[in-house]
Amino acid sequence: MIERIRFESLKDKVTTAEEAVKLIKDGMVVGSSGFTKAGDSKVVLPALADRAREEQIKITLMTGASLGHGTDGLLAEAGALKKRMPFQVDRVLRNKINKGEVLFIDQHLSESAELLHTKNLPEVDVAIIEVAYIDRDGSIVPTTSVGNSVTFAALAKTVILEINTSVPVDVYGIHDIYQAEDYPHRNVIPIVAPWNKIGRRTIPLNPDKVKAIVFTDKQDSPADIAPPDEKTEKIASHILHFFEEEVRQGHLSDRLLPIQSGIGKVSNAVLTGFINSNFYDLTMFSEVLQDSAFDLMDAGKLSFASASSVTVSESCYDRVFRNLSKYRDKFVLRPQNISNTPGLIRRLGIIAINTAIEFDIYGNVNSTHVGGTAIMNGIGGSGDFARNAYLSIFVTQAASKDNKISHIVPMVSHTDHTEHDVDILVTDQGLADLRGLAPRERAQTIIENCVHPDYKDQLQDYFDRACERGGHTPHVLEESLSWHSRFALHGTMNKNDVAQ
Ligand code: COA
Repeated sequence: MIERIRFESLKDKVTTAEEAVKLIKDGMVVGSSGFTKAGDSKVVLPALADRAREEQIKITLMTGASLGHGTDGLLAEAGALKKRMPFQVDRVLRNKINKGEVLFIDQHLSESAELLHTKNLPEVDVAIIEVAYIDRDGSIVPTTSVGNSVTFAALAKTVILEINTSVPVDVYGIHDIYQAEDYPHRNVIPIVAPWNKIGRRTIPLNPDKVKAIVFTDKQDSPADIAPPDEKTEKIASHILHFFEEEVRQGHLSDRLLPIQSGIGKVSNAVLTGFINSNFYDLTMFSEVLQDSAFDLMDAGKLSFASASSVTVSESCYDRVFRNLSKYRDKFVLRPQNISNTPGLIRRLGIIAINTAIEFDIYGNVNSTHVGGTAIMNGIGGSGDFARNAYLSIFVTQAASKDNKISHIVPMVSHTDHTEHDVDILVTDQGLADLRGLAPRERAQTIIENCVHPDYKDQLQDYFDRACERGGHTPHVLEESLSWHSRFALHGTMNKNDVAQ
């Protein structure tokens, strides 16, 4: 306790999760730490789920991004969620959202804090923030993520702190806590390289707002990243060859530019691919650091990484957080409205690599919805990065589920990233460089390079017939979503699988 609560007068606030959760009332807005499973509430939110099983209590829950330990599922199942934002990845919650039982705001991750500060979102009644310790001045040291905690700490009326003793106190120093001024007095954010630290090491907090402190020793949920397979390795190799060609043509140096990489097995495979490449002295300016970032540091390829959270496997967690002295000068964790700031992404010239659910022949990308209506996870930070990156790359497999699904379709059933934001599309079949291409050229390039052989003729036929009708971006409108409706009706997008 002495080590973890250094602000004397807060020591008497220590209580149980069951007591702390009584501060939350029906209808309240709760802001919680947690970003892609890292640094989330391990005991207070689950205690809220327990309470919601016994009594009527429904809240609006804002976080940094997704939570670990199935907490979103527990809350959703218990009926504790009225509204959720800005991101989730939980199967149970997703089903509730898609049934209309929980409202979901799918938001660019850079924006929630901005909207809270400008009072365009409801006020936060209670903040629940995981911390490593409370410092002598009452400020707090976050754990494995920063997310929106700076904003929640500043704006919430009441604060519950979860002190996580599984996180070593020497995490002090890995965070760069910066809060931009409110409009109209906002200044430039003085980051000109990923390694620039511009803020303080602790999150400022008025100790009077702290009404409960709860201890836990539960570690973050480990990331469960599937190992690279044949398809992801092919995608990774197409991207690496593309980078080599960019270097050969003098567009990039062997150091490339700071990389942003989404989560998941493709991103991991791409980053892992750098280990045996000729690239060196790489940097990342991303939102989540996965195992591959630390593997690249160990291999001497990655010199610095900036993000908002560390979401890694159990073994990588031990490697990093039990050996912080080895890594502390190599990475920094920032608030997500800084890690994902559009202006910084444009200034630093980021190479952004994100995953699509599907894309269409003109390069519009759907990252969030299956069959046009059902949410998968959310846009996350992909939009923050894609629109503002120096190079915006989207990857997906060409076809899946025994090739019943083509991930390249005539028209996307939902658009997250428009053709104007997308430079490069990559599947296991190949890579389409869309830079400098008009819509008709883009369509032909995508069909030739990215589409699975089972679908190539069908997509070419669609495009040819669309071109006969004319237009800048030709379509056969009444057929443009027919691949999705065929899948909904027959379980396949492939015309040839369906008896005429
Ligand atoms: N039609 C029907 N189902 C589809 C589909 C389609 N066109 N595309 C994907 N699916 C299904 C898959 O079959 C799979 O279902 P299953 O779990 O039942 O097998 C599921 O959707 C996920 O697909 P998968 O290929 O495993 O996706 P992934 O794990 O590589 O994730 C995204 C892809 C797009 C869902 C994920 O990257 C994401 O949420 N991105 C948006 C947020 C983001 O980019 N964040 C990073 C910014 S840092």
